Amino acid sequence: MSSQDIPEENLPAEHSAGHNEHGAVTVADDKNPFADPGLPPHEHRVQDIDERAAKRSERVVAMLFTVSMLATVGFIASYVAIPHDKSIFVFPIGHINALNFALGLTLGLALFAIGAGAVHWARTLMSDEEIADERHPIEAPPEVKAKVMADFKQGAKESALGRRKLIRNTMFGALALFPLSGVMLLRDLGPLPGTKLRHTLWSKGKLLVNVNTNEPLRASDVAVGSLTFAKPEGLEETDENFQTEIAKAALMIVRLQPENIKDKQELDWSYQGIVAYSKICTHVGCPISLYEQQTHHVLCPCHQSTFDLSDGARVIFGPAGHALPQLRIGVNDQGYLEALGDFEEPVGPAFWERG
Ligand code: FES
Repeated sequence: MSSQDIPEENLPAEHSAGHNEHGAVTVADDKNPFADPGLPPHEHRVQDIDERAAKRSERVVAMLFTVSMLATVGFIASYVAIPHDKSIFVFPIGHINALNFALGLTLGLALFAIGAGAVHWARTLMSDEEIADERHPIEAPPEVKAKVMADFKQGAKESALGRRKLIRNTMFGALALFPLSGVMLLRDLGPLPGTKLRHTLWSKGKLLVNVNTNEPLRASDVAVGSLTFAKPEGLEETDENFQTEIAKAALMIVRLQPENIKDKQELDWSYQGIVAYSKICTHVGCPISLYEQQTHHVLCPCHQSTFDLSDGARVIFGPAGHALPQLRIGVNDQGYLEALGDFEEPVGPAFWERG
């Protein structure tokens, strides 16, 4: 509808220079490109001009309320009459408990009928008068601002804050210190982790134990191209903190040809081409489980981060932000693989980017 179609009486009353009494723009200009179009003509409902239509609407509303009453009676009857272990077949849901079905159906119908009746009543029979509430400027008029400032100054004067410096200073002190009680409550979130997040169970001399056989690994057990998962000796699945510790200490062991290892530190920290890396993805901590023997890539199944084990386990694809931490390993006198210390950096999802 264009503004030409709007009757004169529905257009906003002009006040001065293209503005109505509340400041709304009634005539567009360069400064105010959108004029207030006013209200469209009011269209009377059929119930307002035809008494028979109004009676029909009245009967519909009464019928809906009656349906609600019947549904409520049905709800009570269902509750009393239907055994709680009876089941019925309802297409397409299948077999369900008859009592639950009846209670849900009747209760839903009772509520729906009340709502539908109320809406129909409001839309067809209640008053249809249109009321426009003009939006007022947000900014307070100058006299209100002046009154607020005067009240503020009067309050400051009456409180004698400027004169009674002792009260003023102690009050500021009290207000400044009070938030500290909230800070103290943060202690209840503790105890602080301390350096626990920086260390795993690995330490110098700890044997690498195959997680499948629960036997310590010999260097000769690790074949080229195989992927073996290991845990620190002494950590058993029955331990109370097993999940916590294995989540930090889980290792994957791979044997590469030493000449295929491109990274010097990786070579130094390996034993005859056997490398030990954290199994925990540095993206969000999924366990890495896929190894491509030909390319020496390991792949995280969660979001496909891919790490090159022949090049310091650096990320070559995916969202992980850091290479996998490597564990320095060697063999003991009996030929068993052992750790030569802990990881030198935190394992897992990058320890919040490690500062
Ligand atoms: S957790 Fe490994 S890629 Fe997301």
